Amino acid sequence: MVTTFFNRVLCFSLAVATVSAFPTALEERQSSNATFLSTCPGYKASNVKTTSTGLSADLTLAGTACNAYSSDISDLTLTVEYQTDERLHVKIQDAANQIYQVPPSVFTRPSTSNGSSGNSELQFNYIFLVFESQYLRLRTKLPENPSLYGLGEHNDPFMLNSTNLYGDHPVYFDHRGANGTHGVFLLNSNGMNIVIDNIDGQYLEYNTIGGVLDFYFMAGSLPVEVAQQYSEVVGKSAMMPYWGFGFHQCRYGMQDVYEVAEVVANYSAAGIPLETMWTDIDYMYLRRIFTVVPARFPLHLMQELVSTLHSRQLHYIVMVDPAVAYQNYPGFNDGVSADAFLKVANGSVYKGVVWPGVTAFPDWFAPGTQGYWNGQLDSFFIAQTGIDIDGLWIDMNEASNFCVYPCTDPEQQAAAMGDPLHPPPIRLGSLRQIARFQRQVTAY
Ligand SMILES: *[C@@H]1O[C@H](CO)[C@@H](O)[C@H](O)[C@H]1NC(C)=O
Ligand SMILES: *[C@@H]1O[C@H](CO)[C@@H](O)[C@H](O)[C@H]1NC(C)=O
Ligand SMILES: *[C@@H]1O[C@H](CO)[C@@H](O)[C@H](O)[C@H]1NC(C)=O
Ligand SMILES: *[C@@H]1O[C@H](CO)[C@@H](O)[C@H](O)[C@H]1NC(C)=O
Ligand SMILES: *[C@@H]1O[C@H](CO)[C@@H](O)[C@H](O)[C@H]1NC(C)=O
Ligand SMILES: *[C@@H]1O[C@H](CO)[C@@H](O)[C@H](O)[C@H]1NC(C)=O
Repeated sequence: MVTTFFNRVLCFSLAVATVSAFPTALEERQSSNATFLSTCPGYKASNVKTTSTGLSADLTLAGTACNAYSSDISDLTLTVEYQTDERLHVKIQDAANQIYQVPPSVFTRPSTSNGSSGNSELQFNYIFLVFESQYLRLRTKLPENPSLYGLGEHNDPFMLNSTNLYGDHPVYFDHRGANGTHGVFLLNSNGMNIVIDNIDGQYLEYNTIGGVLDFYFMAGSLPVEVAQQYSEVVGKSAMMPYWGFGFHQCRYGMQDVYEVAEVVANYSAAGIPLETMWTDIDYMYLRRIFTVVPARFPLHLMQELVSTLHSRQLHYIVMVDPAVAYQNYPGFNDGVSADAFLKVANGSVYKGVVWPGVTAFPDWFAPGTQGYWNGQLDSFFIAQTGIDIDGLWIDMNEASNFCVYPCTDPEQQAAAMGDPLHPPPIRLGSLRQIARFQRQVTAY
């Protein structure tokens, strides 16, 4: 499909990419090593084979390794595939094929039809590259004042400036006016920082702490077409429930179930339509997932709260964090029995620190983990005897760990963060009548 902007050449300058494999590099990376990065030698291409649908080449380190944040990988392979006329796939990986790539069981690769370099609206220009073992860096040149959208969560206008906040979704749309919009997706699940800046020319720069460079370029040219082409790569989004678009209320720091009910009642009293009430980790016993704290969020009152919400066509969501408190309770013990947790080399469960203090982390690739996790959810949220939720808020699932590397004393770090917790006082009921709730309306 050769359309209006056949001459739009995507110059993707592979500037500096580095990947490193030694745990000690994590500490070193707290500080910059820009001086050494600037000495990285780049790669030479050889054995270049061109076909009608792309090319392949071997890349060899072009000089002395810079080892800026880890070890330079000396032998790489480059694969360029014109997968469709609108989609170009470019992958640079270690020739030995040892570095982690997102497995097909997690991310199904898109099917390809017959694109060809002659027809494609995207032309790939390979320029310069450096690649190490636990750090990748790659910079691409952009026009001045680029109109970029996507990437990390940020709370300023949609158009990207330079602010990274929290989550990241490594795809961006680049609007180029009359030259149309294209999209760039990096299939890499490692932690990353993406910098957009204008120093010696406008650029976008990827910094990841591992993985390979696995890019999908979507030609557009309308933004909606980029979105369609992107969905061919990553799949379609799940349908949102209709109620998901309503007004939701969510706050950390609810003292007890009475306060939650009172917030709901106050929305009614104020004439503000409320669709969904949420509860943060406040409802848990010492922030342990799959528990309630009986003195402040007793199960029978949680059930009454939810049934009252449901009887009024409202919905209810609670938080569950993947990190499991390292404590003697079923939520943890069942995970140990199922061999579901990440471990250290000697076989003991890896300990980190999250909201409940010392925690274990489910290993989502271990065979017993899905059964363990489903079992916990099924029994805790069973409608008849548990909490009949309408949705879950899965927080801290990056996975987050407050325990600073190398985390030799998680108990001490948890204590320094305020573990054990001092929960708020226990009340016997609400201070005032809570309209449209029954049993828990116990003024005292
Ligand atoms: C910077 O790179 C040099 C050269 O490989 C290495 O010796 C040094 O440890 C690195 N420093 C940091 C802070 O990463
Ligand atoms: C690719 O092209 C070949 C030869 O023209 C054709 O036989 C085949 O069906 C095409 N495949 C797809 C997926 O379009
Ligand atoms: C981008 O951020 C910089 C620094 O915060 C600010 O000075 C500038 O005005 C911002 N530009 C846009 C287009 O928002
Ligand atoms: C479109 O592309 C041409 C050729 O690269 C360039 O000269 C022109 O500035 C571009 N226009 C816009 C609006 O980006
Ligand atoms: C509900 O409204 C009452 C009356 O305005 C107020 O005193 C109370 O603090 C509100 N409760 C909550 C939980 O916000
Ligand atoms: C295993 O390693 C962990 C952390 O490195 C350590 O705390 C624990 O004592 C070790 N266990 C055994 C049985 O050696």
